[in-house]
Amino acid sequence: MADQASVLITGGGIGIGRATAFAFAAAGYRVVVTDILDQEGQEVAAEIRARGGAASFQHLDVTDSENTNAVVAAAEAQFGALDAVVANAGIAHRVPLSQMTDDKWDHTFDVDLKGIMRVARAAVPAMQVRGRGAIVALSSIMGVAYGWGEHVHYSAAKAGVVGLVRGLAVELAGDGIRVNGIAPGYIRTAQALSEEHSLGPAGLEKAAEFIPIGRVGEPDDIADVAVFLASQAARYMTGQTVVVDGGLLVGRY
Ligand SMILES: NC(=O)c1ccc[n+]([C@@H]2O[C@H](COP(=O)([O-])OP(=O)(O)OC[C@H]3O[C@@H](n4cnc5c(N)ncnc54)[C@H](O)[C@@H]3O)[C@@H](O)[C@H]2O)c1
Repeated sequence: MADQASVLITGGGIGIGRATAFAFAAAGYRVVVTDILDQEGQEVAAEIRARGGAASFQHLDVTDSENTNAVVAAAEAQFGALDAVVANAGIAHRVPLSQMTDDKWDHTFDVDLKGIMRVARAAVPAMQVRGRGAIVALSSIMGVAYGWGEHVHYSAAKAGVVGLVRGLAVELAGDGIRVNGIAPGYIRTAQALSEEHSLGPAGLEKAAEFIPIGRVGEPDDIADVAVFLASQAARYMTGQTVVVDGGLLVGRY
């Protein structure tokens, strides 16, 4: 099955990454599920195999260059160059400026922005040799349009993703590699449901009142766009970060 496409997803154990793993599997990809959450990631890979798909799990901490390089190399040894990478892993911690330490700032940037560069840097050389590939990176509406108080490091890192996507898209277009981003709105995952760090369950339901489509997003709503951006259907798209928010940004007036 050398012609079966392959995808590597970071943070694939839960939330948007998990849904993305299932969506790529349903689209016929071999899926390399990666995460720091070993049990959750293994369960996703097992579930894909139980549904008749092909998937494996690898522990991948996107803050660790050696680990990232090794996992990408192992995937390539098995499948050849990756057809797609979804750089999804992310954290959103509530930290008021008065409590912002250099370490807290750096940690969020290390995961949310540099982590994307690390996985792209590892996967791109083999894609270049083959002359094709797609990278999809997760930004946020907090990076493209909204400000988010007490999450300045998150907003700044997610805005950085937009710049990373643009720059890499230009650098790699001549190699047949497309790079696009997704900026989700409010999506029902552990991140958004956290009372400590985000809206929490009640806040999330309240947010639905402001969303023109009338509901909070589900992980599948993002996963399907990731599959589209990686597919031939998006062959003339690169350098874009697509807002997927149920109309939230255009609906506030
Ligand atoms: N849920 C939302 O409303 C929302 C909105 C905008 C953007 N996003 C972005 O979408 C992406 C997925 O978020 P989610 O809502 O599914 O969150 P989530 O918290 O449910 O999942 C995040 C995943 O990233 C993984 N992760 C964290 N640190 C990691 C590291 N160092 N190395 C590897 N993996 C790591 C986690 O283990 C987890 O699997 C994130 O980048 C997030 O910022 C989410």
